[in-house]
Amino acid sequence: MTRAMAFEPIRTSPYPAWPRPDPAVEDAVLTVARSGHWWQSGGGAAERLEEALVAEFGVAGAVAVGNGTVALELALAALGVGADDEVLVPATTFVSTASAVHRLGARPVPVDVCPRTLTVDIDAAGTAVGPRTRAMVVVHLAGHSADLPAARRFCDARGIALVEDSAQAVTAEWAGTRVGTVGDLATLSFQAAKLLPGGDGGAVLATRDGALAERVARMANCGRRRGSALYDHHLPATNARISEFNAAVVLAHLTQYEHLAQARRTGAQRLLSAMPPGTVLAPDPRATCHDWYMVLLTVPDDLYERGLTNRHLVAYLDELGVPAQVLYPFWPDLPGFAGNGDRHAERCVVARRVTDRVAWLHHRLLLDPDFPEDLGRAWARIESAHADVLPAVSGRGV
Ligand SMILES: Cc1ncc(COP(=O)(O)O)c(C=O)c1O
Repeated sequence: MTRAMAFEPIRTSPYPAWPRPDPAVEDAVLTVARSGHWWQSGGGAAERLEEALVAEFGVAGAVAVGNGTVALELALAALGVGADDEVLVPATTFVSTASAVHRLGARPVPVDVCPRTLTVDIDAAGTAVGPRTRAMVVVHLAGHSADLPAARRFCDARGIALVEDSAQAVTAEWAGTRVGTVGDLATLSFQAAKLLPGGDGGAVLATRDGALAERVARMANCGRRRGSALYDHHLPATNARISEFNAAVVLAHLTQYEHLAQARRTGAQRLLSAMPPGTVLAPDPRATCHDWYMVLLTVPDDLYERGLTNRHLVAYLDELGVPAQVLYPFWPDLPGFAGNGDRHAERCVVARRVTDRVAWLHHRLLLDPDFPEDLGRAWARIESAHADVLPAVSGRGV
């Protein structure tokens, strides 16, 4: 059945694509193809990517791997997380942060998040920690850095490991401290939508301990020591290597990263002025750098009470020509995780509330000069028309 349009589009031309069409990326892929160096055997793109990450983050070691999910699994396993351990995981995150823990036979324990940044609430972590807790994972969600000094103090005081899931932030900082440099290990994702896209791919950064990086490298490469012979296997392990092609694409993006990050920040400043206060989650004042991986748009209380959820918001924005998505589901409710009966999940009131209230918009939109005004106009239309169009939208089963 054809749906009646509730809104006339305010925008019909496409927003910038992501990944962007880029001759440097095409060159990088062709260079690998022509080199015949299609596999990691020293000196190739993966090795150069690892060196570049060490230099970029100023860390002790980096291991480029197949994706951000496997990076988390390897990081936790290298820190000794295993059967019957518990790991604190923010309740607002992509499912991989929790499933990586689950796949090691350990239990991800959900921790509530701060309403301003949707990153882990360290006070809430204090109520979730227990005798079996082995580690905490902080997630730098949507480009917001978590409070890294507080997370580090929390873990040190309890003798547990700290992992940073930095799939969604590359240069973000909390009070001058950059993401990826504080946890015992940090992980990155180079999936196609990410800030450093490689198609797929990921990395584990070892902030201070080069031996940890070596352990991860062996675990990701069939147990081989770095630089060792083909059949020199030191532990039973998996193959989680990044491909040379993906690594070359990430390397091509690394050189453009700062310029694009600056363009996003400029767009975001204009967006914050174009939108009513509180609708776009602005960075915490202690965050000295914000990466704007996603624009987090929240439904204000008055509209929520009149029935507007993030699903309606996304449907309206879609009709208006501004692409958006609803935030992640609350992972403790997903099949295979503890679910409603879990007392820790019940305490995650902010995380549960935002699954209904927050929509997010991809960073590529911030690269379009008209986006701030588009969203401002779209928001004004939704706000004024909401009372009339809501029944029509609800009837569509969103
Ligand atoms: C916070 C977070 N962690 C982990 C991942 C997993 O990364 P990948 O898709 O590269 O496996 C993602 C990817 O979306 C993510 O957003």
